[in-house]
Amino acid sequence: SVVILDYGSQYTRLIARRVRELRAFSVILPGTAPLERILAEKPQAIILSGGPNSVFDPAAPRAAEGLLEQNLPILGICYGMQLLAQHLGGRVERAGRREYGKAFLSRHEGPLFAGLEGEIQVWMSHSDAVTQLPPGWQVIAETEENPVAAIAAPDGRTFGVQFHPEVVHSPKGMTILENFLELAGVARDWTPEHTLETLIEEIRAKVGRDRVMLAVSGGVDSSTLALLLSRAVGDKLTAIFVDHGLLRQGERHEVEAALRPLGDGFRVVDAAEQFLTALKGVSDPEEKRRVVGREFIRVFEAEARKLSQEGYRWLAQGTLYPDVIESAGGEGAANIKSHHNVGGLPPDLKFELLEPFRYLFKDEVRELALLLGLPEHIRMRHPFPGPGLAIRILGEVTREKLDILRRADDIFISALRDWNLYDSVAQALAVLTPVQSVGVVGDERSYGYVLGLRAVSTVDFMTADWARLPWEFLDEVARKITRQVPEVGRVVYDITSKPPATIEWE
Ligand code: XMP
Repeated sequence: SVVILDYGSQYTRLIARRVRELRAFSVILPGTAPLERILAEKPQAIILSGGPNSVFDPAAPRAAEGLLEQNLPILGICYGMQLLAQHLGGRVERAGRREYGKAFLSRHEGPLFAGLEGEIQVWMSHSDAVTQLPPGWQVIAETEENPVAAIAAPDGRTFGVQFHPEVVHSPKGMTILENFLELAGVARDWTPEHTLETLIEEIRAKVGRDRVMLAVSGGVDSSTLALLLSRAVGDKLTAIFVDHGLLRQGERHEVEAALRPLGDGFRVVDAAEQFLTALKGVSDPEEKRRVVGREFIRVFEAEARKLSQEGYRWLAQGTLYPDVIESAGGEGAANIKSHHNVGGLPPDLKFELLEPFRYLFKDEVRELALLLGLPEHIRMRHPFPGPGLAIRILGEVTREKLDILRRADDIFISALRDWNLYDSVAQALAVLTPVQSVGVVGDERSYGYVLGLRAVSTVDFMTADWARLPWEFLDEVARKITRQVPEVGRVVYDITSKPPATIEWE
């Protein structure tokens, strides 16, 4: 594996993903992780990330004592390069000014840049600079502003780069990372097929003859996990899907079809009545979330209790790597979304947790889904919130409103697919407002609901930009909705970004 030591760079996860894209397994550890912890990962190479500190600040995080003397190949990026240089006897100084943005390597040489010719565009973001190299090291690249843009150790396997090869603004960065992995002799066996085999073996070894239960939400993670577990443990798996009545058109059907390979191991609990009753009179968004969360636990607990009496030992969850990474930013485990984690089960139900995806990124789960035959529309599906349509109906949730929203949302989403726009946005949704506005139908005045359409582009869902969908497309959708869903009198398109707005309206 490649161990990535995190010194607080916003790009650390990106480094880990890039290494995986190059088919080498990667693990992120805190920059100050003890040597034994690092060696326990059996690293074939180490990458030191960037970070906001200055290496000459006495409180700045440093690599474990003895790590740099292990004879392991190392790539130091930005702060990581400065750590290497300083520790091995070079010198780092505050640069006259911050170098930020695009730069060009006007000169570069040696195997780290193999296959690259001419000027190379790279992304810089630093205020300190290496001004004197450790003994025996060489400068292997420079920019106009920076005479020490990359350095190499005499062993030919340890390097420092002042720029960020992991970001898209370094278009040849992947070649540089790949060259490093090659020079370091890192195994490149992290293929989806290999991952699938390894996961199946690990699950079998861990679970033995015991039985496993799993809550399926209909999203890509839990659906893929259901198929994986079914491959690994066959009929010892029971996957439970709670239909809370807040799903979109056809959703339950799609999940049922996708998980048909589980046979009797797939159970749907029809709890719509219970959820809608509990939501009666509730119009505050946070209260809706609480009610849905609480009812979900109730339903799930009842099922879990039955299964625990039938001797189920394991509770599987689709926790992903970003939820568990311990990085310089703090413990990741605290970030687990409440709906991912079927928390809140009473302590007398003593399931052991099985989290086969805890080392995977979402893209890797999607690759597994492909191998496991999960239908494409679920595999590439936009995220859908746990509380479902309850938070897309502003105000009280009623059956009638659910029905209106479902039909309108389905027209919007189907049209996105028909126009080949679905994959170009990160999330798209319809929102039913409680506002009724005046219209004309034939010669008569009419009152209809105002329906909001929202589509956003985003990578991390923390910030988002509204999607510039074509006018013709929006025109067609608005016409279709008002024609086929007469309860809707007006369709509006949300052109607010996040921040200040959120993606959902509630
Ligand atoms: P916001 O609206 O906060 O949404 O910009 C960011 C992402 O989170 C989803 N979301 C939720 N997911 N339970 C969930 O499981 C929730 O209560 C919830 N609220 C928002 C939202 O769909 C978007 O992808």
